[in-house]
Amino acid sequence: MKDILTAPFMVEMIRTASNMYAHGWDERNGGNISLLLGEDNLAEYLDTGRVLRTMPTGFEVPELCGKYFLVTGTGRYFKNMQYQPEKDLGIIRLADGGKTAELLWGFDDGGTFTSELPAHLMSHAARLKADPLHRVVTHCHPTNILAMTHVHSLDEREFTHTLWQMMTECVFVFPDGIGVLPWMLCGTNEIGQATAEKMKEFRLVVWGLHGIYGTGRTLDEAFGLIETAEKAAEIYIKTAHLPQLNTITDEQLRVTADYFKAKIKEGWLR
Ligand code: 13P
Ligand code: ZN
Repeated sequence: MKDILTAPFMVEMIRTASNMYAHGWDERNGGNISLLLGEDNLAEYLDTGRVLRTMPTGFEVPELCGKYFLVTGTGRYFKNMQYQPEKDLGIIRLADGGKTAELLWGFDDGGTFTSELPAHLMSHAARLKADPLHRVVTHCHPTNILAMTHVHSLDEREFTHTLWQMMTECVFVFPDGIGVLPWMLCGTNEIGQATAEKMKEFRLVVWGLHGIYGTGRTLDEAFGLIETAEKAAEIYIKTAHLPQLNTITDEQLRVTADYFKAKIKEGWLR
């Protein structure tokens, strides 16, 4: 058996969490990540027949039954993950229609998966239907996106349009737009269901007054989406109170998207 701490998915997960912390997106235990793993690459590192303990998830996701996830623990600090990954991370396999998580590795000191598991797993199910190569769901609390939800309309078309106008690259990094939810109680099945509903059409979903979810085929893709939206939000926060002398027009957005072969969300340009 190879050392699981050297597995590329583990190394990449720890690097991503550390990098998110360094960006200031994950204060204290803020944020969580889940990564869908293939059974093939797991067998080199883990006896998948050995279940350490089982934990109820509190919801069903039948389409993910039997699937494996590397997931962050609840109450864990991204800041510390690189020093104690076997405590802060766990590998689970879903059983019993998704109602049970079988722990195969990690959460060594008795910990458990993130409180946002409903939003993560329901979003995985929604994104897999939209893109069979989807693998990653990431949640965090980036300062400027969060600040923007205090002062900008939460209409998702208006929110996206403002971000597209902040920086030329936005329109081809997230041409499909950003879904936005109003404030809701976090950690619940209800916010999980609402997030997954948005994930049918968006790879990025903002939680008003809380944070953001980014998804993708790789950790880099999910990270890069959030990074781009957060940078655009920073430009908004730095300029919204100043006289605006120049802007990117809808025609320029259209030309940019066409040139980079990005399909802008239908009807979202004026
Ligand atoms: P967890 O520590 O349970 O992952 O929660 C962090 C968080 O960001 C809740 O939304
Ligand atoms: Zn959060």
